Amino acid sequence: MSRKLLSYKNQELCFGLKQQPLLAFVKNYKQPVIVYDLDIIKERIEWIQSWKRLGKLHYAVKANFHLDILRLIKSMNCGADVVSVGEIKRALEAGFTAQDIIFSGVGKSKEELLWAIERDIYQINIESISELNKIVLISQQTGKTVNVGLRINPEIDAETHKSISTALKDSKFGLDFESALIAIQIISENKSVNLKALSFHLGSQIMNVNVFEKALGVMKPFYLKAKSKCPELDRFDLGGGIGIDYKDADSAEDEKRWKQLEAVFEKELAGFEATYLLEIGRFLVARSGVMLSRVEIIKETPLKKFLVLDVGMTHLMRPALYDAYHEILPLKLLAGAKQDYDIVGPICESTDVLAEQRSLTPIHEEEFVALCDVGAYGSVMASNYNLRDEAIEIFI
Ligand SMILES: Cc1ncc(COP(=O)(O)O)c(C=O)c1O
Repeated sequence: MSRKLLSYKNQELCFGLKQQPLLAFVKNYKQPVIVYDLDIIKERIEWIQSWKRLGKLHYAVKANFHLDILRLIKSMNCGADVVSVGEIKRALEAGFTAQDIIFSGVGKSKEELLWAIERDIYQINIESISELNKIVLISQQTGKTVNVGLRINPEIDAETHKSISTALKDSKFGLDFESALIAIQIISENKSVNLKALSFHLGSQIMNVNVFEKALGVMKPFYLKAKSKCPELDRFDLGGGIGIDYKDADSAEDEKRWKQLEAVFEKELAGFEATYLLEIGRFLVARSGVMLSRVEIIKETPLKKFLVLDVGMTHLMRPALYDAYHEILPLKLLAGAKQDYDIVGPICESTDVLAEQRSLTPIHEEEFVALCDVGAYGSVMASNYNLRDEAIEIFI
């Protein structure tokens, strides 16, 4: 049975686990509004934590760093996966401890590494030999023992958009196997650095979970090889990346996809001893937010009909950045023939296009639409280009 997170009741668009009408949130409208339902995030964490072999779920803070979201996630015994000292500070502010935090990222500075090492961060995921050498030096200078993971690039196509694939042969992320062996040698010769984890992250918005099977096929033998050199290795960090169907906000389908991934893990990891970590972002938070926007202008050219919104690429960058699809639905369902529109923002850039040739029920200027599934990589990517009002964030 489907469990839709967006549906019309009495011609009004409703959202969330409790299906609340969204029109109430545009009553005194002044600027774009993001409405969040934290229960959606809670439910997803519960699905994932029900996997019996999971050691710890780490939330990828980059997906959404709002403090209320981080506090909820911390309260549910999750850790955090971060990619900068800024994100570490935000996670600490929300109540995470240093021992909850995995520090990922391809370009950590010396200063960031020192900052993290001085605070005994749980695990630093290394992505290059240069980064490892800096960590060795800092550990020797400070006398601190550092627990690290090696992020491996298993060269597996995640079958997602190229711009969000992170484990292709030409990706900037992770260590190729040859470099990883060099890293293992360096670590085994340095008492102050412990190899605690191997990690991989294939990319984001992964819909075919079988790509994890392929990745584990190459990662498992490498894990055993690494453990023979560094016996302290006991964490297997399986990354994140599980996707959602942006054309159908259905909790039941999402839960099914998680269950498919869990089944892949169960099958591939049967009899394999390790503490399993996950670093999931989008799947936890994308569905939790909808962005409400006013139709400012309806404009017809000889070729097209445009719906010009007050939300643009500065509020929601994903469509302009990598052609991402977001469902766009009128808050009021009016009777009448549907029309095709290019839905665009007000920003002075031709790429400020939110959707092309979308078929919408009748809509007029000063009415409202919802841009759906904006909880992940939405507000966090906002910019102040054109100095328009930013979106207000509200929690129901
Ligand atoms: C290292 C790492 N871990 C986890 C994630 C989270 O990915 P997602 O939001 O697709 O789950 C990312 C994002 O790309 C990442 O770079």
